[in-house]
Amino acid sequence: MCGIVGYLGEQNSPREVIINGLKKLEYRGYDSAGIAVIQNSGELKRVRAQGKLTELEKALEYEPIQEGHIGIGHTRWATHGVPSERNAHPHHAGKVSLVHNGIIENYLEIREQLLEAGVKIESDTDSELVAHLISREVEKTKSIFSAVKNVKPQLKGAYSILVLWEESPNELIAFKDGPPLVIGIGEGETYLASDVQALLNYTQKFIYINDQELVHVQFSKVQKQPSTANFTTETSKLSKEEQLYHVSKVTLYNQRFEKIEPKVATINWSADLIEKQGYAHYMLKEIYEQPRAVAQAAAPHIDLEKMEVQLDKVGFDINNLMDLEKLDSKKDFQSTLEVFKNIQKVYIIACGTSYYAGQVAKYFIEKNARINVETDIASEFRYRNPILSANELVVTISQSGETADTLAAIRLAKNLGAKTLSICNVKNSSIDREAHGHLYMNSGPEIGVASTKAFVSSLVILNLLSLALGKAKKVLNHDDEVIFLRAILGLPSQMEGILAYDKYFSEAAQKLKKFKGFLYLGRGVSFPIAMEGALKLKELAYMHAEGYAAGEMKHGPLALIDPQMAIVMLAPQDDVYEKTISNLEEARARGGKIISISTGENTQLQKVSEYYLSLPKAHWSVNPMLAVVPLQLMAYHLASALNHDVDQPRNLAKSVTVE
Ligand code: M6R
Repeated sequence: MCGIVGYLGEQNSPREVIINGLKKLEYRGYDSAGIAVIQNSGELKRVRAQGKLTELEKALEYEPIQEGHIGIGHTRWATHGVPSERNAHPHHAGKVSLVHNGIIENYLEIREQLLEAGVKIESDTDSELVAHLISREVEKTKSIFSAVKNVKPQLKGAYSILVLWEESPNELIAFKDGPPLVIGIGEGETYLASDVQALLNYTQKFIYINDQELVHVQFSKVQKQPSTANFTTETSKLSKEEQLYHVSKVTLYNQRFEKIEPKVATINWSADLIEKQGYAHYMLKEIYEQPRAVAQAAAPHIDLEKMEVQLDKVGFDINNLMDLEKLDSKKDFQSTLEVFKNIQKVYIIACGTSYYAGQVAKYFIEKNARINVETDIASEFRYRNPILSANELVVTISQSGETADTLAAIRLAKNLGAKTLSICNVKNSSIDREAHGHLYMNSGPEIGVASTKAFVSSLVILNLLSLALGKAKKVLNHDDEVIFLRAILGLPSQMEGILAYDKYFSEAAQKLKKFKGFLYLGRGVSFPIAMEGALKLKELAYMHAEGYAAGEMKHGPLALIDPQMAIVMLAPQDDVYEKTISNLEEARARGGKIISISTGENTQLQKVSEYYLSLPKAHWSVNPMLAVVPLQLMAYHLASALNHDVDQPRNLAKSVTVE
């Protein structure tokens, strides 16, 4: 769950590329950071600092790194060893420098082996041990590529690693098994990073590295020839250095160390999408982007003329070829309809906020398609020996597409013979590449650690999925389909209205922060939204919050209620409204202070509530997307009032690529 960046080339400054890249990756970890560059003098220089990246930037002012053309950098989320400068990456062993994202599971064994051999180990990390293994090997082979090739099979666990060797400043090695790693292709220069966002300022062309692959990047300067594209008649007038052009060669190897052909993908995200664009925090920007996000999620899947849901293009690439042009349609591809008609049961698997989206979807699919749905937290599913079969559909939801537990769950589901469908925001991410069928949240980059726009976008996709399943099963008629689709199409403008609560919560935050705890209650589709609201408050405001099914309160949690407890009651006027109100009264009778969220001018609720928020009147299936917005704003403003770092809450990271 760290972020890594590497650069080999001369057009850019490695120091700048790495620091800029790490800034975009800080969401992955932010307890310490470091950089190492082989300077033009030939000396390998490293600077590290505990704390956020700004601390590293300060350290670089005192201890500047000179220019060079190769470097690696790291921003850390500690696993082995406390956050400190000593444990920060890059780790050095002899003339080898290495950055690592992940966990080396057999590190104790390696550590003992190294200590026995008399190696001096400086940090408490598992990563430094890998640097030593490579350093010892390079002493023998005198080739950094061969050294890595020999060490790789000794490593167990999850890793993405970049390695350079002071003796060979024109080579950079990368290899991975687990955490993501991409190669950015420049003109005569090569970039490496944990994700594409780190490199969008430099390139939009990427190669996604698969597990077990090894990358050898080599840099050289070649004399311009008349036949080269760079040749001009002016060439002869140029200085010797100017007559050279830069070549960066990227060679990919598979697990058996055979050369493989890289596939280059072009990403259409632009660099400005990952800037704050005037907002105080990414999270606030992303909350405000939600009306656009839901529209973008829905657009590819609604035929506006026929008013029909369109998931036909999604299809199921049964052999997981991922290259739709090469598919033999009969053998490898099944249409969505073909698959959906035969589905007997749906499993939805995810973590955190994405899991709550899955829980809302259980209501959607069971109501609209009358198919039994089980939801599971990925870390539970993967270890509970699930029973799956070919007519079962396993849907995974993941904004990043890199969450380790969700990735393991989809792999397991495939091995057990189920059809898999991923809903991701990041295209070509590991989970996306693993699935038979692919749907996208399409919400643009989400940088704030707390997920917001990806959540509402995934709810839209799940809503549409339930309609497509309902149609395939002939449970849903066209009139009903039109009602659902109209509700989705109305979402952007209704959300705009709710964003006006921003001011309301920024004013209320000073009073709300005095509560000792928060209970979020709801029934039906509002129950998972209650849990999502509580999660937002926990992760941002570090306050105790619980999401509960309102009807379950009397079975225990009522004992928690006193005047210091705020009750956030989700009570849209749906078919369980009356029952929700009874639960609200039970909580109020025990002294709880009520913050209620309902539909329209609800005077009954306004009278009994400390705070009352009104949602626009909407179809039940879009209430969750509307009701979550005030909960996001409330968590955001409470965290700001408490002076917490909203975009980078303590102890957390955006994508959890370790177990
Ligand atoms: O990238 P994913 O959707 O797989 O991430 C899952 C969770 O880690 C994520 O939703 C987490 O719970 C967020 N911090 C919640 O705001």
